Amino acid sequence: MHIHVLGAAAGGGFPQWNCNCPNCDGLRKGTIKATKRSQSSICISGNGIDWVLFNASPDVLQQIQDFAPLQPGRNIRDSGIQAIVLIDAQIDHTTGLFMLREGKVKREIYCTDMVYEDLTSGNQILNILGHYCGINRHDVPIDGAQSFEIPNVPNLRFTAVALKSAAPPYSPHRNDPHPGDTIGVLIEEISTGKKCWYSPGLGEIEPHLPPLMSQADCIMVDGTFWTNTEMIDMGLMTKTARSIGHNPQSGEGGMIEKLNEFGTDKKVRKILIHINNTNPILRDDSAERAILNENQIEVAYDGMDIIL
Ligand code: MLT
Ligand code: MN
Ligand code: ZN
Repeated sequence: MHIHVLGAAAGGGFPQWNCNCPNCDGLRKGTIKATKRSQSSICISGNGIDWVLFNASPDVLQQIQDFAPLQPGRNIRDSGIQAIVLIDAQIDHTTGLFMLREGKVKREIYCTDMVYEDLTSGNQILNILGHYCGINRHDVPIDGAQSFEIPNVPNLRFTAVALKSAAPPYSPHRNDPHPGDTIGVLIEEISTGKKCWYSPGLGEIEPHLPPLMSQADCIMVDGTFWTNTEMIDMGLMTKTARSIGHNPQSGEGGMIEKLNEFGTDKKVRKILIHINNTNPILRDDSAERAILNENQIEVAYDGMDIIL
């Protein structure tokens, strides 16, 4: 299985256009050791030719240009992207769909009922696409028992589960969470049995998750914030990380502690993805990055390739 990180940052990217936090300001001025990152998306292939795009980031056009296999060039109009799986309805994961409106072939979109509802109500993007390429919407089962395959993406099997999280700010049910607002997905390469767990928005490792996550050879999880109060401490937001669906890395019950429960019996790559621009782990020489290194947890970057 080939996993390619198209964008490793959370909503806003790094640096964020209107942000002068120490990270964004330092990156712009070249005074910190860090690399810019675009907004959250990965693509996966089980044959190196046909790809499933996980999330359509606002930066998707540049991300496609930066990864040649996504344009195989077989026809006058062509793409290696055969289907798009949306893990939630957040702006940073869906607005790239506007950029993928060209062509006569319908976009194959896989999302839960809750995400479909948000993307046809509070945010009308899927309705609007109907006036361009059109879409074929496929439901994503979230009971964890049913897997699904994507016809044009051979050799991969997907198992999704609902995660405790929050619907986007624009959602009609923002303050009333429903199963399917956010999902985590276990992706299996059928020919090799290799598996990757992907959940860029993960508010809590609930009891139904370890049985799936422990099957994975690579765990890619929410790396948004270092502390629960990061945005409050910087005066940027009044909400905690957990309350907006992002379990922070540090502290009790944090992602580092939780990730250490995996990989005790086999080699597992642990990778943080969807990293907010305020997060100190973005600085290659920070104390926080050193703690991740000690715990053998990697920080995703744009262009990262993971071959399982
Ligand atoms: C989030 O996951 O909380 C987002 O990155 C928010 C956004 O895209 O605005
Ligand atoms: Mn996000
Ligand atoms: Zn910033």
